[in-house]
Amino acid sequence: MKTNIPLSVVLLTAAVSSTNYNTVHNLTDTLLNGYNKMVRGSKDMTGKTTVRFTFQIVNIVEFDERNGKLSITGFFFLQWNDYRMTWDPDQYNTTTSVMFVTEDVWTPNIILSSAHSDFRGLGVKELPIRFDNTGNSYWYPADVFKTACTPDIYYYPYDTQICDIFFSFWGYGVNEVSFQPFIDEVNRYVYTEHGLWNLTESSVGAIEDARANLIFLYIQLKLTRMPEFYLINMILPVMTIGMLNILVFLLPAESGERVGFSITVLLAIAVFQTIASEKLPAISRPQVSLLCIKLLIDLCLSVLVTTLAIVSLYFYDMSDSRKVPDCLRAICKVILCKKCEKDKEKDKEGYQEEETYKIYQIIDGQQITASISISDNHSSNDEGSKCADITWVDIGRCSDIVFAVFSILAFIASNVVFAVLAM
Ligand SMILES: *[C@@H]1O[C@H](CO)[C@@H](O)[C@H](O)[C@H]1NC(C)=O
Ligand SMILES: *[C@@H]1O[C@H](CO)[C@@H](O)[C@H](O)[C@H]1NC(C)=O
Ligand SMILES: *[C@@H]1O[C@H](CO)[C@@H](O)[C@H](O)[C@H]1NC(C)=O
Repeated sequence: MKTNIPLSVVLLTAAVSSTNYNTVHNLTDTLLNGYNKMVRGSKDMTGKTTVRFTFQIVNIVEFDERNGKLSITGFFFLQWNDYRMTWDPDQYNTTTSVMFVTEDVWTPNIILSSAHSDFRGLGVKELPIRFDNTGNSYWYPADVFKTACTPDIYYYPYDTQICDIFFSFWGYGVNEVSFQPFIDEVNRYVYTEHGLWNLTESSVGAIEDARANLIFLYIQLKLTRMPEFYLINMILPVMTIGMLNILVFLLPAESGERVGFSITVLLAIAVFQTIASEKLPAISRPQVSLLCIKLLIDLCLSVLVTTLAIVSLYFYDMSDSRKVPDCLRAICKVILCKKCEKDKEKDKEGYQEEETYKIYQIIDGQQITASISISDNHSSNDEGSKCADITWVDIGRCSDIVFAVFSILAFIASNVVFAVLAM
């Protein structure tokens, strides 16, 4: 069926060229003589006129998700039978088909009812229509169809849009005309791939609403966005900038750069948020885009990291005359315990060396026991004070470690959750 339709046109064109002008002129005059274009071409008016059709898509002009507008170019092929358009080819020097202007003959007056701008009839008035000698029509109304299509941008930019283009056939009832598609999907012989949208599925059909006595044609297009452009220009930059947040706590507190740095990161994320919200349609139902939520979370995290950076600077700057609260001291001890143990070992080694040195000396002199006990006492005292001596700077370092770990985890969680949900 797919290849039959264009082929038949070629054959008909060839057939009509083998006859001469007068014959065709006479034939068209004869056929149009007394023709009433307001009456459908059925001999028995109780019978239905069956219109068979296909839709050829040529290209997707644009899908403006912000305004909910899909523009496609394409053309229908419509075929029906008009008994008035029949003749014997032998009487007209083997003429098997003739052409008319659409305005001169009966055509199904289909109107794009899901139109984005204005209601219009199908195709251009001046387009020709061909009839063969059995009364079958060959009509190819072409147009740029601008249809309304509300996008669902929840998974943006990994989204798939389903757009329905509806045509209505007003005036005739379901008992007078029926529509049947030749094939139930859109033809793509002449389709040019779009750079952003992949036409993955399509369907074509007619809906008869018997109660309202209305007939609709629909073309359904399933468009999947190819996300690479947005991945490279939006998602990866936001991820890398988010990564910078983690580095804030590596900056030395004395440099005084921490707050400036984290505010810069915050502003960069805010800029991306603005860009994203400008690109996306203002849609709150059924769901706000995941990307917007992710950007909001990143922004909030960035605000939090800035706050934490300020909090840790506050610890660094605290005067040592103020006592470190016990709870902070306990937490800090746990975090810095490794360091504390290392110090202990170092201290012990030092004192043992001292002891052996003393023993050598003592071999020359007297009073061995006394000197050892003194050194032992001394070392145990020092150990206790070293480990307990947690200053506000230590608290600042502890908070840096805690906040850095927190921001790493938050960064990973935010990106992993987005990747899992969106892809
Ligand atoms: C039929 O068409 C042929 C080819 O164009 C032409 O030579 C011939 O004169 C035509 N006959 C009539 C009766 O018009
Ligand atoms: C066809 O055209 C010729 C010459 O123009 C004319 O003599 C003839 O009567 C016409 N026939 C019909 C059926 O109109
Ligand atoms: C479009 O989608 C189909 C099916 O999902 C796939 O086979 C095809 O490669 C895609 N085309 C492009 C250009 O990515």
